[in-house]
Amino acid sequence: MPNMSARLTSFRTDVFGGTLRVPGDKSISHRALMLGAMAVGETTITGLLEGEDVLHTAAALRALGAAVMRDASGCWRVLGRGIGGLVEPADVLDMGNAGTGARLLLGLLATHPFTSVVTGDASLRTRPMQRVMEPLRRIGARFLSRAGGRLPLAVAGTASPVPIVYTLPVASAQVKSAVLLAALNTPGATTVIEPAPSRDHTERMLQEFGVTMRAETDPATGAKSITLIGQPEISGRAVSVPADPSSAALAAVAALLVPGGGVTLTGVGVNPLRYGVYETLREMGGSVEKHHERMESGEPVADIVIRHGALTGIDVPAARAPAMIDEYPVLAIAAACAHGITRLHGLAELRVKESDRLVAIARGLSACGGQVAVEGDTLIIHGSGGPPPGGARVVSAFDHRIAMAFLVLGMVTGAPVTVDDAQAIATSFPGFVSLMNDAGARIGNHEGEDSEPSSVFC
Ligand code: S3P
Repeated sequence: MPNMSARLTSFRTDVFGGTLRVPGDKSISHRALMLGAMAVGETTITGLLEGEDVLHTAAALRALGAAVMRDASGCWRVLGRGIGGLVEPADVLDMGNAGTGARLLLGLLATHPFTSVVTGDASLRTRPMQRVMEPLRRIGARFLSRAGGRLPLAVAGTASPVPIVYTLPVASAQVKSAVLLAALNTPGATTVIEPAPSRDHTERMLQEFGVTMRAETDPATGAKSITLIGQPEISGRAVSVPADPSSAALAAVAALLVPGGGVTLTGVGVNPLRYGVYETLREMGGSVEKHHERMESGEPVADIVIRHGALTGIDVPAARAPAMIDEYPVLAIAAACAHGITRLHGLAELRVKESDRLVAIARGLSACGGQVAVEGDTLIIHGSGGPPPGGARVVSAFDHRIAMAFLVLGMVTGAPVTVDDAQAIATSFPGFVSLMNDAGARIGNHEGEDSEPSSVFC
């Protein structure tokens, strides 16, 4: 794990380009470890994200009895316990900063008949868990949590799970996945109905592992129902994790904004339910091309080629939010440098991410001299056809995506941008600074904010 400095400063970049491979997809990495732990025999995982969030999931699964190992070549091996085979952990399960890890794990624990206590870091302990406890209670699990359904909480899994039909109140892949993972050890057919499609990595990977699934979309409402037949026996297999499209979006926006910039991002997951930011950047006039589309472990993957060009503000509909929910911070940076107004609608869920991202984006852009307003769940950004002045210290609120997005902004502002605490970057994008700097960025832990760094960037 690279030692990520607390404070980082990004200075204006003259060139930005190359062929880059960002680390593995965080969502898929959590799922690969968890399904590996549920399978009988060995699952091998290549390209696993070795970020702190995923390492917390690996540690939790070890505490629950699965063997999870990394070999010298970087390939991970999981010796699974079989469905229903997890064992009571000897200690509290600490999921760190990982909302996905915590919520999906609660799904698995809900249908294992023992009691576990789950906690996380200061940020995760503020995040709502009620949304997963509610359906998991219907299946039969019992929970005791802090006020507001927050961690730490105790979960007593049920020995007699009941299959349910559950309609998600919000389009959340985490809640959907928690129910589907609980359904793995539930007899009969469990159905989840989602009002609007959210990322479907769990469904795809379950199918890869041979679980019987059915999906139907109601043509009238667009609602999708997903049914899983529980208590199958699944066997370990080889899983290849694509590069994370959310991490790749940071390099993509940098390439669009830096004059003369251009990157090829290799092996990126291009699942349509994760591709919203790339479509939006194209609609803004950006040069974004997909090459060599192929399938790997049930997921579409491609090389994405991005070239610098002027961007124009647009209206982004709320319906697109689930397909780009983690990319609003970096999209807001692109919008701040575009010509004209960008309106990003339907962002209520941003308030309950690793930080209140609506506040964090608006506060950071204003500090950097951008014009931004929040109206209800809409973020309105007035682009002035070039970067805002910069020269600010931005509060990251221990949110990796806020920290990285503002370091991208500092690559094009006249004055450098400093992020007060960049340590959270290690949760999702280990090696961010070196990858960006190898492509031409100048991000370092230089103390001064106004002067050039003297030599090496970390
Ligand atoms: C994720 C789903 C999203 C996303 C998160 C990862 C997942 O959260 O923000 O970073 O892997 O299922 P919601 O499902 O709560 O929207």
